[in-house]
Amino acid sequence: MKHLQSLGWAAVAGLACACGTSGGADRPANTGGAAGTAGAAGADASASGGAGGGGTTDSGPPLGDLVGPEPGLKLALFGDQGNNANSRALLKLIVDQGADAVVHLGDFDYADDPVAWGALMAELGDIPWLAVVGNHDTDAWTGYREVIDQQLAKFTAATCTGEPGVQHACTFRGVHVMLSGIGLMGTGHEAFLEGQLASSKHVWRLCGWHLNQRDMQLGDKGDETGWDVHEVCQARGGIIVNGHEHSYGRTLTLTDVGNSASGHGATGPWDELRVALGSTYLIVSGAGGQSLRMYDAAEHDDDTWWAGGYARDVRIDDGVRTDGLNLPAAGVVFLELGVDGNPRKARGKYQLVDGSVVDEWTTYVDTTGFSGG
Ligand SMILES: [Fe+2]
Repeated sequence: MKHLQSLGWAAVAGLACACGTSGGADRPANTGGAAGTAGAAGADASASGGAGGGGTTDSGPPLGDLVGPEPGLKLALFGDQGNNANSRALLKLIVDQGADAVVHLGDFDYADDPVAWGALMAELGDIPWLAVVGNHDTDAWTGYREVIDQQLAKFTAATCTGEPGVQHACTFRGVHVMLSGIGLMGTGHEAFLEGQLASSKHVWRLCGWHLNQRDMQLGDKGDETGWDVHEVCQARGGIIVNGHEHSYGRTLTLTDVGNSASGHGATGPWDELRVALGSTYLIVSGAGGQSLRMYDAAEHDDDTWWAGGYARDVRIDDGVRTDGLNLPAAGVVFLELGVDGNPRKARGKYQLVDGSVVDEWTTYVDTTGFSGG
């Protein structure tokens, strides 16, 4: 099942594609210009390359009946939380950074203690949050679900449908978040996501679930979701965010997710990502406090699609792996939507609990075909 679109910039994807190279740290660096220049064919002017600016020349055509984000809406994304000093430091960072909402990507306290987890999440104060089930949450799910339901009752800005934590979609303040328990709880996740995305009028669509595919994490996790959910989200321009593997990883723009032989269609500049019909990227944010795991070199040194990463023993920066002990262990992804006066532009970063930032990128959404019909 492939849904690639004949977008102008995608047609020249091969010019900047890292796929098929020998892989590892010595492969040719992606050029910053090719896809960005070609991106002018899309809805957003990209010549500025994320250099700021804003104004009418940078914001693309009018949104029409599409729904853009509240300017600067800041989301925090993490999973694999635990209940320890790092877990609490992470929540404090989210508060200090002024996040507007949190998406918890599963694996809560690892102790089957919903009361304790609820108390921990209360450290977010007034910041609303959504959560999806992780594999460590299923045994005490009834209790966790009560905590989630109590939170949702307070999240009055969100309009939600489906089963919280399992198959749940919410829109709030101009973003559409879809959460799936794929591989853990519920059935029909692909159809649920497809239905949500096909009817979405939102510029920013977030597909979240806990588990991984082997190629879409930096450790030793195997294939636990299948590719269909990824393909559905790529086809409809949904950014994919996962937890489960206890490290951080961010891909290049992907246009052929699920096809390892093509490097999953990785393309474009390292730090300027393109989302469109047929184009997405994926983030694993699984170092939310419980632990930071090792990079698995044997499995991933030849992966050509990673732009950024942070594991216990390896960092990835612009695709280059660097060995070393990485501390602190815990970190969180922030996505700031609708920046520089452009509803189709976002800035992302991965920030550690000591405040240091180890990865930054810009995202542009080409909304061509986002009909919501
Ligand atoms: Fe997990």
